Amino acid sequence: MSDYDLRPRRSVAFIGSECYPFVKTGGLGDVMYALPRALSRQNCDVKVILPRYKCIPWQYQEKMIYRGEFRMDLCKDGRSFYVGIMEYVWDGVVYDFIDNEEFFGSGNPYTNLVDDIPKFCFFAKAALAALNYMNWVPDVIHCHDWQAALVPVFLRTMFAGTPVGDAKTVLTIHNLRFQGVYNIPTIQYWTNLPDYVFNKDALKQGYEDANMLKGGLDYADRITTVSGTYAGEIQTPFYGENLDAHLRYHSGKLRGIVNGIDCGIWNPWTDNKLAVQYDITNVLDRKRQNKRALQEQLGLWQDDHVFVIGLVSRLTDQKGLDLVNAVLPRMMDGHTQVVVLGTGDEQYENSFRHYEDAYRGSVCSNIMYDEGRAHSIYAGADALLVPSLFEPCGLTQLIAMRYGTIPIVRETGGLKDTVQPYNRYTNDGNGFTFDHYDAELLLDAVNRAKTLYFTNRWCWDEMVQRDMDKDVSWEQSAAQYRDLYLELKP
Ligand code: ADP
Ligand code: GLC
Repeated sequence: MSDYDLRPRRSVAFIGSECYPFVKTGGLGDVMYALPRALSRQNCDVKVILPRYKCIPWQYQEKMIYRGEFRMDLCKDGRSFYVGIMEYVWDGVVYDFIDNEEFFGSGNPYTNLVDDIPKFCFFAKAALAALNYMNWVPDVIHCHDWQAALVPVFLRTMFAGTPVGDAKTVLTIHNLRFQGVYNIPTIQYWTNLPDYVFNKDALKQGYEDANMLKGGLDYADRITTVSGTYAGEIQTPFYGENLDAHLRYHSGKLRGIVNGIDCGIWNPWTDNKLAVQYDITNVLDRKRQNKRALQEQLGLWQDDHVFVIGLVSRLTDQKGLDLVNAVLPRMMDGHTQVVVLGTGDEQYENSFRHYEDAYRGSVCSNIMYDEGRAHSIYAGADALLVPSLFEPCGLTQLIAMRYGTIPIVRETGGLKDTVQPYNRYTNDGNGFTFDHYDAELLLDAVNRAKTLYFTNRWCWDEMVQRDMDKDVSWEQSAAQYRDLYLELKP
């Protein structure tokens, strides 16, 4: 029995807008899946509360069990809405889906702010009402990002004095760029929250807007974000997205806990999406076979000796793609291939399509969302590029390391905390890094990686094995969350 099993049990309700495998658009979905499972192995009782979006695959919908329904007052004019609860229990974690066709029937989790603001006002309140309805009062309610940020605000106002009002709250910032900002009358209409929460220390922003994340940060008992470096960065104007002063004010309750990955899903030894499975003992040989399979699948020249660079990412400004665009032609030297997988801003989708045309056989741009292809790239590429402008944590570099693929990253947020730069004198480190947001520095990092790969394969291969051996699991970080929960409810 581990130390943790001897500590008191804690019950936690996770509230968030996405969770793998039901619905995922990025790393939040991975965390909402993996962290509850890791916590359940550390003597926590976890319920995950999610919207029941129409896009959740039928294979999960059909296994959900009806837990009940009620009507809930929501709006200022007294409009009330149906709240259904559908439950799915899986591997020690209970998933409760909040059902309402009007809000969640449109398919995708996020559409546009006009629809998303009412949707997540409803969701935050319905999640708390559902806990009371199910008579399940957790020790801690752990909310994620702006979509669940009104939970602490509702809890300390309308739900004070109800059973769930006894719970403590943690609000985790996965990405400060998204805050849920809209004019005050609209948010007041959709929440019926009292006037005093729309003051400048809580929801109010500027003269006429309400900021849902800002309100949540004020009302939460603790704030966390997904790496120590990002916790510091967001208190500065450059990374603070206009909330740096608010975060500095609340810095006493803010801390960074770095993400991990689920080593069951991301395991090259058992991953049935790979051409050949491998572990640390046979990675060098079998990674070559995965590279071949990837080249064949994507129509690239089949050559074991080229250096394959992968990029698996949402194609948005956050991810440093303007740097990649600026230097990609200079990366193409006849010995290098680039494989892109992602969707997002049209400008980047088109530029990567253009590069595929310009360098046919050497560049492949997969403008799509495809889990299977992501696995093949993590296994088949030699290096993975993550040159982000900002990166709260980043999971792709962790997955890459687990698959023996060397990350090339910018030193920001969680990238800085998880990738130790290669040191050619001591021959240690996990990847290649650069500091300032500058295309020439990215190119330099790529060239340093290539130099090692082509001129000192022995050291490169050692790094591959070192990366596979690195602990990128959730165990240590889940223990930190658990300690935080214990601190909140002694
Ligand atoms: P973010 O949450 O900012 O998008 P992360 O690095 O935390 O970035 O997480 C991204 C997650 O989404 C990873 O699991 C990655 O494999 C996955 N992912 C991103 N784009 C795609 C895609 N086009 N197809 C499949 N998986 C993707
Ligand atoms: C956000 C961040 C990413 C982080 C993920 C999970 O989407 O952009 O850096 O890894 O959340 O916490």
